[in-house]
Amino acid sequence: MTPPFPVAAVYPPLLEKERALSALQQEVITLKKQHDAIILAHNYQCEDIQGIADYVGDSLGLAYQAAQAKASTIVFCGVHFMAETAKIVNPTRKVLLPDLEAGCSLADSCSAEKLAAIKAAHPELYVVAYINCSAAVKALSDVICTSGNASKIVQKVPADRPILFVPDQNLGNWVSRKTGRAMQLWPGNCYAHVQFTPNALLRTKAAHPDAPIVAHPECTEAVREMADMVCSTELMVGWCRQQKASKIIVTTEAGMIHRLQREVPEKTFVAAPTDRCACNECRFMKMNTLEKVRQCLIRQSPEITLPETVRRAAEIPLQRMLEWSK
Ligand code: 13P
Ligand code: SF4
Repeated sequence: MTPPFPVAAVYPPLLEKERALSALQQEVITLKKQHDAIILAHNYQCEDIQGIADYVGDSLGLAYQAAQAKASTIVFCGVHFMAETAKIVNPTRKVLLPDLEAGCSLADSCSAEKLAAIKAAHPELYVVAYINCSAAVKALSDVICTSGNASKIVQKVPADRPILFVPDQNLGNWVSRKTGRAMQLWPGNCYAHVQFTPNALLRTKAAHPDAPIVAHPECTEAVREMADMVCSTELMVGWCRQQKASKIIVTTEAGMIHRLQREVPEKTFVAAPTDRCACNECRFMKMNTLEKVRQCLIRQSPEITLPETVRRAAEIPLQRMLEWSK
């Protein structure tokens, strides 16, 4: 792309009146009570969904919340692999995903058939799978990790086993550098996070020189090297709160800004741009809308279902993760 480049969107602290619930939000709250449902939402969901969720968090926090859920129905506002994870760890609950098409390009980059063939040829491999993968891939893995616990998990893998890390090569590279553990990396990446570039960050930093940069580990190494902090979306909340600076550049999916505005209300956030767009949204995360949440509560569908053999096999590495990351 040729100049002029997009200018980063700046989000100053919210005014109190901007937080009032809409009529649709109030209707969804009533419906969820009527249907004994809880709403779990990822940090990348749109603002009106985050505003009525029972819990908003990263993949790790959502997995723990799903495992402990007492309500009979979980409305999962995130992407397909996250809703599948909820079903795997809490199979007696009905799990609804407002839009079944809400997938993940990273999860799609790793097919169970290909992974099974590699494992058959190299039975010595210990497969560490990032949670952004299908239930069938989880079922073939030894342990699961998220961006919030990946280093901790990799450090617990027996030292005599060579590791195959699937499917995010950027997260894998970051973990390998942090832990010093060599790993074979699956050649997958997140289509959204790899759109951040060093040049876009340099331009943003020039416009906001006092703002530190936080970035998600799914970003490329060149982008991560420019960041003051690299961490999962959950850890970003605590890190931003601790900063002396009043303004922070956030290099991840733009929905994260809503969570930060609610929980770190005194600061201004700058959504890191790409070379093409003023911010960066995941098209899959944005498939869920509040209207679809309302519809799925009324219709009690679309529902996540899994063959029990796959669910049981996927539960083993997921429970191992929940245990290892305590
Ligand atoms: P978190 O592990 O921070 O929830 O990130 C999940 C994700 O899909 C990032 O693109
Ligand atoms: Fe998948 Fe990337 Fe979207 Fe996360 S942001 S759900 S990794 S496509």
